[in-house]
Amino acid sequence: MSEWIAGRVCGKRQWTEKLVSLQIEAEVAPFVAGQFGRLALDIDGERVARPYSFVNAPDERPLEFYFVVVPDGLLSPRLGHLEAGDEVWVARRPGGFFILDEVPPGRDLWCLATGTGLGVFLSILKTPEPWQRFENIILVHGVRHARELTYGDTIEDFARRHPEQFRTISLISREASETALPGRIPAAIENGTLEARAGVTISPAHSQVMICGNPNMVNDTRTVLEQRGLRRNRRQQPGHITTENYWRS
Ligand SMILES: Cc1cc2nc3c(=O)[nH]c(=O)nc-3n(C[C@H](O)[C@H](O)[C@H](O)COP(=O)(O)OP(=O)(O)OC[C@H]3O[C@@H](n4cnc5c(N)ncnc54)[C@H](O)[C@@H]3O)c2cc1C
Ligand SMILES: NC(=O)c1ccc[n+]([C@@H]2O[C@H](COP(=O)([O-])OP(=O)(O)OC[C@H]3O[C@@H](n4cnc5c(N)ncnc54)[C@H](OP(=O)(O)O)[C@@H]3O)[C@@H](O)[C@H]2O)c1
Repeated sequence: MSEWIAGRVCGKRQWTEKLVSLQIEAEVAPFVAGQFGRLALDIDGERVARPYSFVNAPDERPLEFYFVVVPDGLLSPRLGHLEAGDEVWVARRPGGFFILDEVPPGRDLWCLATGTGLGVFLSILKTPEPWQRFENIILVHGVRHARELTYGDTIEDFARRHPEQFRTISLISREASETALPGRIPAAIENGTLEARAGVTISPAHSQVMICGNPNMVNDTRTVLEQRGLRRNRRQQPGHITTENYWRS
């Protein structure tokens, strides 16, 4: 059986000049929320593939991917030009370990994302498991500009369905905002504004933290959390911090 399936773009959301969501029809093998698929195009005779987190829940179709067009990137600018009806290769087998099965029990689940790192949490929060396992779920999204606060409709839907359990907090780092916190996620943990806004404290006794996006943000956030006594989650030694880097810093 071939590794690649010919998928077809069936929907596109152009959030900003650089932020795009593509909906794609392709029958991939079953996956777990939090995993990624791989998209590929044939460029100059070579198949160029990159991983992208699923935004759709495992039982939802079409597939959906949310990505930023990286300046001078090889694949993402070309993906950004695809339109409904275009073909794109999709890897048959999804992969990845940024999934709730890898997260130990806790009272609170913090989902910390920058940029397109938001997408993976939408897939996870569309499934029943986190709502069954955690008392409080706090989704935090850090972006440069207000226009990059995407998927407001999906996030509002979580709030409507889980008004007691769910909190959502935005951070905008490069312009003033009346509603979002200013600056970056690690600083907002250090100065206490993130927990104050959530009305929930972070502690090894009751927090599980999943972090996804810019690798520098992942590292800086982990450092701040380690200063608060949280530990990296390892298979042999369960901790509190589970991470996914979208690229190498
Ligand atoms: C497990 C996993 C899941 C991923 N899921 C997503 C996703 O859901 N959405 C998404 O946009 N990207 C995601 N990525 C990144 C994606 O696979 C590509 O690296 C990205 O689209 C750039 O590919 P490119 O060929 O255009 O750039 P390349 O020519 O490969 O250049 C790579 C460089 O682009 C920069 N870069 C890569 N990704 C990003 C990014 N997301 N934001 C800012 N700068 C970046 C880095 O400097 C990196 O070194 C994921 C990566 C991994 C490892
Ligand atoms: N967003 C744009 O308008 C824009 C425009 C042109 C090109 N691009 C390119 O698009 C790609 C992705 O941009 P993006 O804006 O989605 O992602 P990004 O650069 O990762 O920024 C997203 C958020 O992460 C924050 N951040 C960066 N480093 C951090 C750290 N060490 N700790 C904590 N937070 C950190 C940023 O804060 P800071 O603002 O403080 O860095 C920003 O709030 C990049 O390659 C970028 O060069 C983006």
